[in-house]
Amino acid sequence: MNRALWSGFLVLSLGLPRVTPAQEPLPPAADVKLVIGFSQCTVKEPWRVEFNRRLKEHAERNYPNVQLDMLDADDKTEKQVGDVKTFIRRGVDAILISPKEAAGLTGVVKEATEAGIPVVVLDRDVNYKDYACFVGGDNRVIGRAAGKVVVEMLGGPGKAKGVIYEICGGLASTPGQERRDGFHEVVDKEPGLKVLGGLDCDWKKDKAHSVMQDALKANPQIDLVYAHNDPMAHGAYLAAKAAGREAEIKFIGIDALPDEGVRWVKTGELTASLLYPTPGEAGLDLAMKILRGEQVEKRVTLPTRVFTKANVDQGGEEVRLDK
Ligand code: FRU
Repeated sequence: MNRALWSGFLVLSLGLPRVTPAQEPLPPAADVKLVIGFSQCTVKEPWRVEFNRRLKEHAERNYPNVQLDMLDADDKTEKQVGDVKTFIRRGVDAILISPKEAAGLTGVVKEATEAGIPVVVLDRDVNYKDYACFVGGDNRVIGRAAGKVVVEMLGGPGKAKGVIYEICGGLASTPGQERRDGFHEVVDKEPGLKVLGGLDCDWKKDKAHSVMQDALKANPQIDLVYAHNDPMAHGAYLAAKAAGREAEIKFIGIDALPDEGVRWVKTGELTASLLYPTPGEAGLDLAMKILRGEQVEKRVTLPTRVFTKANVDQGGEEVRLDK
């Protein structure tokens, strides 16, 4: 019945032949099992392990009538396409997906939506926008906030000076593109700053470590590393440490997991980290609202905070999302 409601809504919103939805949708009875498929792109990074852990705990605590089926795509687009197709074939009630990349997952998100399954897209977006809703951080705002932190650290607006080495996440994904673009909007205005690097390290610590080894050999001066996540920032830090150059370089990352980025800011290994909250709990809440026939916002933006040595013990500082 819930799927039928959603299909009615979808058909109406797509302007296809009219289907009359039920007048007063009732919440599902507590003993009705709803099956929600969750397609996670990888669990190779700590942020995703935490994402899954929180989502699973949230589902168990709050939705005893939900069976959450999680599939791990092992960091491969083709596997993730197959995982979503499996959910479509099984006729799950809703799909949550955190895509490996935008273009490769666009088709299957469209296919699921057109099959009448509400799809909630988490953290990384796709190019098709008629899915049910999106939940994630605003990566352009985060990129800009990182840019402002960096400009301050290197001398302040109009006076900043130095050589920055940028290490990118997956550039086929929207967070990689937006963290790069937001950052450049700010730092490219500073005539005294030079940005080197920009290689796609696919969010991986080991790749960032080896890219940084080469960067250190090629560049006698690097004042700051901006990496699109904390594992890569820390990989770069370890490479600099092995070369005896960590004290002359500042390291900025994103994620700020308590046991990772926040801890590294406390120990001084990272100079700053920006919070990127995991979106699983909010995503599941939205899927459940949709299945109860409630209207939901199309885009839910999660907040961010910046952590530096000066504010880490007070829980960091909020970044305004309109900035
Ligand atoms: C984990 C991760 C995080 C990053 C996010 C971006 O896979 O790389 O570190 O913030 O994905 O989508």
